[in-house]
Amino acid sequence: MSSTGVAATSAPASAALPSIRARIDPGRDYIRAPLIAPLLRLNDAGHAGYHLRVPVNGETPLVARELLADDYCLLTFRHPDVAQAARPGQFVMIKPGASAELPLRRPFSILAVDREQATFSLFVKRVGASSRALSQLCPGEVATCLGPLGRPFAAPPPGAVPLLIAGGYGVAPLIFLARELMRDGHLPCLFYGGRSAKDLALAGMTEALGTPVHFATNDGSRGQAGLVTESLERHLDAYSQPAALYACGPQPMLRAVARIAETRGLPAQLSLDPWMGCGVGICLSCVVRLRRAGEARAKYRCACTEGPVIDAHEIVWDEPADATREEAR
Ligand SMILES: Cc1cc2nc3c(=O)[nH]c(=O)nc-3n(C[C@H](O)[C@H](O)[C@H](O)COP(=O)(O)OP(=O)(O)OC[C@H]3O[C@@H](n4cnc5c(N)ncnc54)[C@H](O)[C@@H]3O)c2cc1C
Ligand code: FES
Repeated sequence: MSSTGVAATSAPASAALPSIRARIDPGRDYIRAPLIAPLLRLNDAGHAGYHLRVPVNGETPLVARELLADDYCLLTFRHPDVAQAARPGQFVMIKPGASAELPLRRPFSILAVDREQATFSLFVKRVGASSRALSQLCPGEVATCLGPLGRPFAAPPPGAVPLLIAGGYGVAPLIFLARELMRDGHLPCLFYGGRSAKDLALAGMTEALGTPVHFATNDGSRGQAGLVTESLERHLDAYSQPAALYACGPQPMLRAVARIAETRGLPAQLSLDPWMGCGVGICLSCVVRLRRAGEARAKYRCACTEGPVIDAHEIVWDEPADATREEAR
């Protein structure tokens, strides 16, 4: 871990197991044994990223809510352990209330933490039952939260300028990342795109970061007209410094960033956004195909435990049908 909190490397999962076990404290709201077992089994496979703290599993009170234009809102919760442990790129599984109604928690990236105030914030787009109910919570009411979860972003290679590419609500983890990188002396450059100006709901927050921000909208209502990846390419054409790409947003945008990274030989970390039922490697709803260095073929892996941040060069976007059949055998 660098001094910023941006992970420098991921320790081998097997090395992390004793420390995970040592932190299981039945007196606190840490994850309980039935969830730990499958978590450890995945980690024993040698790939997983639980090199950080054991997640919190408990109630967290809402301390502030800001409704933004259209379907967006900012929610700030108090939980000292989440605020302390969270790293850019990690997420929480969260649901409104503490009852069994709305049985499943939903994944949301951590937008910000305030370690002194013991709070963490989420940027929520209302799309369905859980996100709507979350955005209707009032300060003082509780949510049930598991986290922080997943593999965070890693620090850029020495000398590389971090270029952060955000689409829609994908801006949330990148704002957190930008703040931590700046605290570590980097000057990241942010590319923030959406369909139109109203999809850039955190434009003001990105401008306040104090780092260059390039807006792009499909309809030209704010910033460059066109795709955010086109702005990125223009920037890369104009500047010859080594760069490291970080992206979070819709899948077509992530695929375009992966292609740019491949073509230009740049390192790239993508935060994926598949359906997630559990967030801890049990339900397998989030599997993605990854081919790691030295592996003969791709394997299905859980984006919740091995991601959501994944090296772009490992992601298998398209597989021929026969290879898929072979994997299924
Ligand atoms: C790692 C990770 C991080 C995430 N971070 C954020 C975040 O910071 N902010 C945020 O707002 N969301 C984030 N999401 C997405 C968020 O988890 C989903 O939007 C949420 O699960 C929707 O739950 P729901 O019950 O409100 O909607 P559901 O009832 O599950 O869905 C309602 C309808 O909306 C559609 N829908 C569901 N999700 C989306 C979507 N993401 N975009 C468009 N349509 C959708 C469904 O197909 C369905 O038709 C993240 C997802 C992942 C995997
Ligand atoms: S979300 Fe359940 S295994 Fe990943």
